[in-house]
Amino acid sequence: MTNRSIPVDVLTEEQAIEELERLASEISHHDRRYHQQDDPEISDADYDALRRRNDALEACFPQLKRLDSPSDKVGAAISSGFQKVSHARPMLSLANAFADDDVRDFVIRIRRFLGLDADETVDIVAEPKIDGLSASLRYENGKLMLGATRGDGAVGEDITRNLRTIKDIPETLPLDAPAVMEIRGEVYMGKEDFFALNNRQEAAGEKPFANPRNAAAGSLRQLNSAITAERPLRFFAYSAGEQSASIGATQWEFLQTIKSWGIPISPLTERSTSVDKILAIYKNIGEKRATLDYDIDGVVYKVDRLDFQDRLGMVSRAPRWAIAHKFPAEQAETILEKIDIQVGRTGALTPVAHLAPITVGGVVVSRATLHNEDEIARKDVREGDHVIIQRAGDVIPQVVRVVTENRNGDQRPFSFPTECPECGSAATRAEDEAVRRCSGGLVCPAQAVERLKHFVSRNAFDIEGFGAKHIETFYAEKLVTTPADIFRLTHKSDELEQRDGWGKQSVAKLVAGIEEKRSISLDRFIYALGIRQVGQATAKLLARHYSSLTNLRGAALEAGDPNSSAYEDLVNIDGVGPSVVDDVVAFFSDAQNRVLLDDLESVLGIEDFTAQATIDSPVAGRIVVFTGSLEKMSRGEAKARAESLGAKVTGSVSKKTDFVVVGADAGSKAKKAEALGITVLTEDDWLALLN
Ligand code: IVH
Repeated sequence: MTNRSIPVDVLTEEQAIEELERLASEISHHDRRYHQQDDPEISDADYDALRRRNDALEACFPQLKRLDSPSDKVGAAISSGFQKVSHARPMLSLANAFADDDVRDFVIRIRRFLGLDADETVDIVAEPKIDGLSASLRYENGKLMLGATRGDGAVGEDITRNLRTIKDIPETLPLDAPAVMEIRGEVYMGKEDFFALNNRQEAAGEKPFANPRNAAAGSLRQLNSAITAERPLRFFAYSAGEQSASIGATQWEFLQTIKSWGIPISPLTERSTSVDKILAIYKNIGEKRATLDYDIDGVVYKVDRLDFQDRLGMVSRAPRWAIAHKFPAEQAETILEKIDIQVGRTGALTPVAHLAPITVGGVVVSRATLHNEDEIARKDVREGDHVIIQRAGDVIPQVVRVVTENRNGDQRPFSFPTECPECGSAATRAEDEAVRRCSGGLVCPAQAVERLKHFVSRNAFDIEGFGAKHIETFYAEKLVTTPADIFRLTHKSDELEQRDGWGKQSVAKLVAGIEEKRSISLDRFIYALGIRQVGQATAKLLARHYSSLTNLRGAALEAGDPNSSAYEDLVNIDGVGPSVVDDVVAFFSDAQNRVLLDDLESVLGIEDFTAQATIDSPVAGRIVVFTGSLEKMSRGEAKARAESLGAKVTGSVSKKTDFVVVGADAGSKAKKAEALGITVLTEDDWLALLN
């Protein structure tokens, strides 16, 4: 919670781990709100900021990248109600640029990746980024056969009937269109149409939509396509999916061709060669933004040549050949009425600002994060202040600054509590930490409840029908005060059935849900414990390394001695640093926790860890070194391709190296490889191996 305003490159590894964990769970939460419920809690700018921060953290700490990293996912799993559709080619997302320099870097990166000479140009197509929903239209032999949502990028929903109601989308393509032709684009609603629809909604006593995007999403998701037909949806195409034949060598030609087929493309689309020119297009489109009848949230730049696009490929969820240059976030002024302190799972005290409600970027805001004690002091934020808030920096909006001119003398500097507001224990701050923490441990009800919530959360025990709300009430009624108590509920059916709102059936369901999780994998179990800095990725590492809870508990106790071999062994796990070790050791040696673990072991079956299969390719798991100058691809391209096939690319040759791929003028590395008896491959050998 508290690290989110610190630049990523000054974060400690432990802070980074904590933050990556937070980001993964927040992003997946917002993905669900957005994609499945059509009811986002935050603006796109805020969401982008989360993704951007996650990417920056992963770039800075590649070793900490989580197994469930949001950067490997597009959107959210699909919701029910429609047939599932596998996309023939994945529907990708876009990386974001915010500053001009990000755009310059984008072009530089592309040139470097392609290994272009100074005199070779790269044309870029600039298109407005339409704020709607992506859809894929599949035409076979010129007829619209299937229309689908993006879903999670790999599998979407069949919404053909609804898409057919959109007038911009033709039923047929001309005779010369390829036999298989997938066209992708954005379904959106115009602003005027949106206001008119909302008026109709309100007149009919229905809830109005928050913004045009939500209205479009809600309309497209109708199970009854007659309702969709009444909604004024429109469509702009922007890319191709699967094609049996190409309809041009560039993005520009593709757009012109489909336009000639009667499919709308944005009239603001332009093509240019120089970075300065595309930045001028951005500025120009930005100036037109307010006058357009539909929402746009940035400009998408795409490498024009499709052969370049193929070579550039993609990185995690987004193509390397495109980037979205976003428009800046919106700000507003309001009154900060009160500062409230929340206590989290690890005892961290987080200040939250309660605001006089205000609309920013189309969303009503009444709370903002203040990060931590130092942040409040630095900005000198006081209760009663007028503040500027911004919905861009985070999930909860941020307080940018205080409007000191508006102070009337009543505002007093905020004094941060040194006692936990929940349990009264001392709240202390470690020397090198910005966070103040409650020292009460499980004595503190806030910490106890938050730990229990974490224990049952989605990536931990994930007990069906038993979530955060149940924990709160069961804890308040002393039915569940420790994790093991959850597994004793199964003997209390009679007592549970007496409770308000519960009956035989619901209790039986809960009991079944609990029984289902009485056996759990070791990595989930470790994650569920909520050890500080041990997120899913680290839990997996520990599970893999120790394979059983008994081994882990024994090793963690022995590792309390930093001169022991157990310590050495633990700290040497790739991805586990000394500060993580400190927290692991502290957790397993704590007397309260040892009782808690014994108790859990008495009610649960914890499965030993078994390794999973990896990517199926001839180079998966192999260590590869590239040396000398490659002719068919740049070093970056070679590395990316190898990594996408599961190989690990390193810079120096050692006994562990499996292959050394030599280009022209290879020097000492090739010699060393021969001396060590390592397989040496030419560039062609390497490509043959991959194919
Ligand atoms: S290209 C291969 N172009 O933005 C890359 N996307 O953040 C796929 N979007 O899912 C996207 N206008 O829903 C592209 N001119 C445009 C776009 C655009 C809006 C949306 C699209 C995509 C999302 C990515």
